[in-house]
Amino acid sequence: MLADVFPPETREAFAAAYPASPAKLKHNLLGHPLLTIDALADLAEALPAHEIEYNPGQLPIGIRPEDVPKSDLTVTETIRNIGQAGSWVALKRIEQAPAYRDLLHSVLGQLADIVEPRTGAMMQLEGFVFITSPGSVTPLHFDPEHNILLQVMGHKTMTLFPVEDEAMFSADIHERYHLGLHHRNLTWFDGYAAKGTPIQIGPGEAIHVPVKAPHWVQNGDEPSVSLSITWRSDWSYAEADARAFNHMLRKVGLRPASPGPFPARNRGKALAWRAMRKLKGAA
Ligand SMILES: [Fe+2]
Repeated sequence: MLADVFPPETREAFAAAYPASPAKLKHNLLGHPLLTIDALADLAEALPAHEIEYNPGQLPIGIRPEDVPKSDLTVTETIRNIGQAGSWVALKRIEQAPAYRDLLHSVLGQLADIVEPRTGAMMQLEGFVFITSPGSVTPLHFDPEHNILLQVMGHKTMTLFPVEDEAMFSADIHERYHLGLHHRNLTWFDGYAAKGTPIQIGPGEAIHVPVKAPHWVQNGDEPSVSLSITWRSDWSYAEADARAFNHMLRKVGLRPASPGPFPARNRGKALAWRAMRKLKGAA
């Protein structure tokens, strides 16, 4: 049995924010044996290669030839040497390793009483671990999942932007994203800076990242380890499917209204899209 991961004041903060607003939270997973550098290096060995993305290090422009580190680091070597400038590792869908699946399900299970009455059953539970060198940056993007990013080691600042601001990202971008026609990274304009809310987290802290809230991340000046725990819901699937349906309406010259924010359910358009998808599949 996993002890309470979220203290009472965090459960209150999460309950006040979910699902629409970002929130800074606390967690009690520090020191968990599955989240040490050694355990994560073993996890990288256990996961299928296609679930791992890593960059073994970018070199400074002026580096002397004799200082160039070995260039063919494996992912486990990269994890163990994460203090080097410019490296990062993403371990994806860690629930494929049974011990991590148990951890993910136990942690998310502790929030089900808050989540499920609002957005329905927690589905497609997925976990990701990000191991990053000092100073690295994750560019502006959005994600389709409900997400809590738990900081285990080092600091990072996530700057989040409003989900509904179509002056930043048009309905068309959202729609093409859900159809796989737009990359998850988003174009940055300096004018956006004033609309962002930076949230800094260190070990034992976490951020609730709402579905589709654009965000970018700046790591602090030490190595960083973060665990991202994600889920989908009836509500998030309906938003995605309503966007896809709108794309089709737009293609025939209509100007459909965007899906409504929570608590709007967007069920009509979502069901229409699912019916169309079935028809297409049958054709
Ligand atoms: Fe993200």
